[in-house]
Amino acid sequence: MAEPMTTLESGVQAHLLSAVLNPEQVRLDVWNRLREEVSRLVARKAERLVSSEHVEQVLALFAEVHPIERLFVFPGEARLHQLAEMARRHDVEELAEEVRRLVALLSLHRDRAVLLAEGLERWPGAGVDARFGPEGTHYFTTLVVDDMAPEDFTRVRLGILDAQRGERQFVYELLQVRSVEDALVAVLVNDDVQACVVRQDLPLRSRAPVKQFRSTLEPLLLEAERRGDEAALVVARWVRRLRPHINLYLVTDESLAGRELHTERLFDRVFYRYESPHELNVTVVDGVRERYRTPFFDALKEYASRPIGNFHALPIARGHSVYNSRWLRDMGDFYGPNIFMAESSSTAGGLDSLLEPTGSIKEAQEKAARTFGARHTFFVTNGTSTSNKIVHQTLLQPGDVVLIDRNCHKSHHYGLVLAGAHTVYLDAYPVREYAMYGGVPLRALKAKLLELRDAGRLERVKLVVLTNCTFDGLVYHPQRVMEELLAIKPDLAFLWDEAWFAYATFMPLARQRTAMAAARRMSERLRGREYRDEYRAWRARRGDLGGPAASGQALDERLLPDPDKVRIRVYATQSTHKSLSAFRQGSMIHVWDDDFERRAAAPLTEAYFTHITTSPNHQLVASLDLARRQVDLEGFAMVKEAYQLALRLRERLREDPLLHRYLRLLDADQMVPEGFRQSGLDRYVGPGAASVDAMTRAWAQDEFVLDPTRLTLFTALTGRNGFAFRSQVLMKRLGIQVNHTSINTVLMNATIGVTWGSLSFLLDGLRHEVEQLDARLAQATAAERRLFDGQVRAITEELPPLPDFSGFHEAFEPDGGVGEGDLRSAFFLAYREENAEYLSLAQASEALEAGRALVSTRFVVPYPPGFPILVPGQRVSPGIVEFMRKLDVKEVHGYRPELGLSVFTDDALDLAASRGREVEPPARLHWAPEGQPPSPH
Ligand SMILES: Cc1ncc(COP(=O)(O)O)c(C=O)c1O
Repeated sequence: MAEPMTTLESGVQAHLLSAVLNPEQVRLDVWNRLREEVSRLVARKAERLVSSEHVEQVLALFAEVHPIERLFVFPGEARLHQLAEMARRHDVEELAEEVRRLVALLSLHRDRAVLLAEGLERWPGAGVDARFGPEGTHYFTTLVVDDMAPEDFTRVRLGILDAQRGERQFVYELLQVRSVEDALVAVLVNDDVQACVVRQDLPLRSRAPVKQFRSTLEPLLLEAERRGDEAALVVARWVRRLRPHINLYLVTDESLAGRELHTERLFDRVFYRYESPHELNVTVVDGVRERYRTPFFDALKEYASRPIGNFHALPIARGHSVYNSRWLRDMGDFYGPNIFMAESSSTAGGLDSLLEPTGSIKEAQEKAARTFGARHTFFVTNGTSTSNKIVHQTLLQPGDVVLIDRNCHKSHHYGLVLAGAHTVYLDAYPVREYAMYGGVPLRALKAKLLELRDAGRLERVKLVVLTNCTFDGLVYHPQRVMEELLAIKPDLAFLWDEAWFAYATFMPLARQRTAMAAARRMSERLRGREYRDEYRAWRARRGDLGGPAASGQALDERLLPDPDKVRIRVYATQSTHKSLSAFRQGSMIHVWDDDFERRAAAPLTEAYFTHITTSPNHQLVASLDLARRQVDLEGFAMVKEAYQLALRLRERLREDPLLHRYLRLLDADQMVPEGFRQSGLDRYVGPGAASVDAMTRAWAQDEFVLDPTRLTLFTALTGRNGFAFRSQVLMKRLGIQVNHTSINTVLMNATIGVTWGSLSFLLDGLRHEVEQLDARLAQATAAERRLFDGQVRAITEELPPLPDFSGFHEAFEPDGGVGEGDLRSAFFLAYREENAEYLSLAQASEALEAGRALVSTRFVVPYPPGFPILVPGQRVSPGIVEFMRKLDVKEVHGYRPELGLSVFTDDALDLAASRGREVEPPARLHWAPEGQPPSPH
């Protein structure tokens, strides 16, 4: 069952993505139609043919755009009235000129156009960037949600304008909306809204609603009505859910400043009426300035501008060793002086230390935690590869058990070797047609955890590790997964590898499926009284959860965690550099851990000391700080655009018959089996494409959804495998870089760095390619055609079966039977040369047939698909040998074809088995609930 709030949240968001209903697009379309209609009027006027019917047509378009135009400062409602007046007066030339000018400004600048249209007059002589307005000025909109009379609003606006005089850096306009409904729609469609001032007393419903949102918002408004919620609270709660980064201020008429409205801490500040425009102005500007502020980057700039002599071991600092060199001048020319001015090994002068931050880095991390909805955030400069190892070391001790998707990035597997934890590998569902894997089904996770419980091993299970979203864009439902697993083990920790998913926080539809949002929601839900009642009723119905028979039943029902026992311990690692504006290697760890101070803070510091360089690159740290600023202020707009762009690309490829004949972007029904798509969402585009309702339901409740910004292009019908298509077509001919390939696909990403221009360039390039291919095939001889068909068949119908995890050999299975493996013993056993031997694939097949146990000494990771088909201690199965034989990729880490497969000798296996019998896991202290002494295991 979906949470009702979640459904609404994705619902309003789905509107923004729906190509048909997207109100911003509708708005631009109406303006464009207006421009055409008005030009037609001009032509008619020249022939003296303007009738009142023609004018009515124009006025109807003004009426159509009006409900949404009211939610923007520019051109805005007042201008719309002026234009309508012009039409009524038949001033058609003037009208046409003005509409043309407005549409040009609007499509380029949206609400910021007001700066160019009017604001420039405020700063004559200021340098102007054609896209952004006066240099150094940041323009935004402050929404005033207040039903006051227009003349009162004008008074407030003039007061604010007056108070703003002299401010150049942060400049804003006030925009009045009069109801809860208008406020929510404005926040969704107007990206420039950065602050929201809400009056305590408001109507719920709009007098002129934007019709696209009516049906989605209605349940929310009805619910508010039924509960008698204060209107300002409804606005605040929803703004916090939809765009949590916006600053929220409450204006009350009570001198006690709406104290009960303040209890949820939704507002940043409460004002008594509009008593002091000056105070309101400085508060609004300060709120945005604070989000804009980048403590570490600011300190770095300051440092770079000071005269500093450098006798530290960093000759490149200040560029002296570069600019004084006869052979390195191009380095200086290429990078420019600032990078050298900002190079420092100092932690003084405001620069702080990444290893033990107390100043600007600490502050930057705290700001990032707020932006990403975490309780703590830590910056990492060696990529998420390192972030993952840090989290493993923080949460695990030798002998602890970890449930992990075998397809997780290799940093996890190596991290587990280092931590000495025992690994239980889980298989994700296969997507055989494209030789890739999806995610691990919740049922499989529950089954394994229950099996461990029934084997008496539950106490040792500490962590679950999953990738969300996966490389190919499959997104879990983390709240659902965590709640059900916490019902079986209430203090289980989770590491969600969000290497590819840092952008999701800024898009409500996707945010609900991030680890931090799920943790917050779980925290709110599981601690509430309503949940307690739900849990009690469920337990009364359900009875005990224990015993193998109960386990079978537990697989088929939704399990609820015990609110008195549950601990919420959630970690997420993100490669900020993969989806936001950070330099390569910039990564963040986000934490929501009820037991952080008690159980994790000290180990995390140690893990930092273990893995983080003592010379972190300041530019990387600064870029993390800056990436945070950007998404805090414009993440919503940029990520929304990335989604719109991805959907548009999907549409274009689908609609073009020639492109569609050879190239297809895989959709939900091809990547997510039906059983995991409870909503019934099949595809985002094409016949039977997702309705807004289906998209809403899918993101709110499906076990897995496909993120449409991950674009998997199926290339097999061109006769080229993914690798060949990437290198020969995309890179060589079109100069386009893509993410990765599978046997018959190429993965592309629509990130915030992709533009409409790059999209058309890609489409044109692909079209040109398939035109040539089509022409070639039309002239092909029968033999050439057979060859081509054979190539297509080889990469569509004749794919090698994907090998599942075969299991650990018993010598490395410390508590046999449940699939726990001791990677670390196997890994280090292979360090002695005499313990390993090499077998060719043919020899390996023969040995297996003869009944010999073959056990890998290594991680063997082919690229693609990029997951370990073998790990140290794993049994080599006939299926794996078969897969390796058919594997047609150049890069296989851990395997050199000329040497063969590295396996343990029989003696080494005997040695490992005898060691396993001798070595008992160390006695260790186990965490006990608050107030009870820790108990030895
Ligand atoms: C799922 C996943 N996690 C972690 C990483 C490692 O991230 P980084 O390159 O930032 O070290 C990758 C890299 O591709 C990845 O795909």
